[in-house]
Amino acid sequence: MFVLAAVGSAVGLGNIWRFPYITGENGGGAFVVVYLVCIAAVGIPVMMAEVLLGRQGRQSPINTMRSLARRSKASQGWSLIGWMGALGGFLILSYYSVVAGWALYYVYLMAGGTFVGADGAAAGAAFDAFLANPGLLVGFHTLFMAITIFIVGAGVVSGLERAIRWFMPLLFVLLGVLLLYGATSGGFAEGFSFMFSWNWEQLTAEGVLEALGHAFFTLSVGMGAIMAYGSYMPSNTSIPSAVLMIGVLDTVVAIAAGLAIFAIVFANGLEPGEGPGLLFVTVPIAFGNMALGVLFGTLFFVLVTFAAVTSAISIVEPAMAFAVERFNAKRWHVAFLLGIVCWILGLGTVFSFNAWADLHIVGEMTFFDFFDFVTQKVMLPLGGLLIAVFTAWVLPKKIVQAQLKLPGGRPVEVLWEVLIRVVAPLGVLAVFGYTLYHFFFG
Ligand code: TRP
Repeated sequence: MFVLAAVGSAVGLGNIWRFPYITGENGGGAFVVVYLVCIAAVGIPVMMAEVLLGRQGRQSPINTMRSLARRSKASQGWSLIGWMGALGGFLILSYYSVVAGWALYYVYLMAGGTFVGADGAAAGAAFDAFLANPGLLVGFHTLFMAITIFIVGAGVVSGLERAIRWFMPLLFVLLGVLLLYGATSGGFAEGFSFMFSWNWEQLTAEGVLEALGHAFFTLSVGMGAIMAYGSYMPSNTSIPSAVLMIGVLDTVVAIAAGLAIFAIVFANGLEPGEGPGLLFVTVPIAFGNMALGVLFGTLFFVLVTFAAVTSAISIVEPAMAFAVERFNAKRWHVAFLLGIVCWILGLGTVFSFNAWADLHIVGEMTFFDFFDFVTQKVMLPLGGLLIAVFTAWVLPKKIVQAQLKLPGGRPVEVLWEVLIRVVAPLGVLAVFGYTLYHFFFG
């Protein structure tokens, strides 16, 4: 059950929507390599750390960090990890819901046959028209948020997790259908070499930070979401093998989505660096031009929406668990309050694609860019750094060993120690420092 829930949390818009578009924006190739290294060397070790903290603490992330800090005779300041995670959840869910609303709208468009026979220009025009319509965006943002509130409030989360057993393989099948289409469309080879070429000259400092931040985002690591799930994990389940499985599955989904989307990009002469709309201007072309496309396309966006729901409920879990624990609050009340705040914050993202497109919060960043930047590039890496340092340097080693029970003897133990003590913290610090340096000195 833990693995199902964690896979539900990890696999979401991050894999299907975000990974392909940021890969496109960063020129593919080298960016993908850096992303994979970040997953393996930083994301997965920090995820193990986060899960073990949760299972040791068995409370909401805020109280887990408090009690573990007490046990380690360390400062209560470590509860910052929990507070930052709860706050981060609001910020992330606000825009996550808007984009999930796009997927929900595409269920409707697909089912209505809008894209039958569509080419790149038609798909692009449909998406632009949608973005230019704040009313429609707000409507679907509201609908997605309502679904999330309902599920979180009613606490039917576990029923949903059972459904993941069926939906996830189905999502794989549909990504396979897309890949098959891509393979026959004439763009596959070019898409493949875009994703796996050795083009280091294209990589920027900001691109490296983006890859690192996304590694955290796609694994749901760095803000206590996986810690909260870890608190429900039975003590006899192996953390290393569960986390490894989640990491591999999550990465496979992202790579498959990327390969399918870039094949469509190159077969239709589209722009890989198109931006956040990439998923929505490519996939409809494929389903618009294949047999049973209306059925497959509708199902595809249903599954994307479902994947987004199972991620969204994990994004609010740290705040939810804390409110229930601390104030003995009713799930419904917390869910409503959370939902309303995120809904209002989400309006900023909605308008940043139309009415407020020229409103720059910091530098050139729109409201959406700014929220994305603060959560992805600042809060998640910082949270991950603190989790790594706390686990490796503060928490008594006995506790860590008892929780992890690493298989493979001494070599694996050394590998773990090196990754969590040195590679993960220094990696995050180095990327932060490098980016700041470039920011100030060009
Ligand atoms: N991992 C999810 C995705 O890829 C998003 C997500 C769920 C998340 N829970 C999170 C991101 C916690 C950061 C923190 O879509």
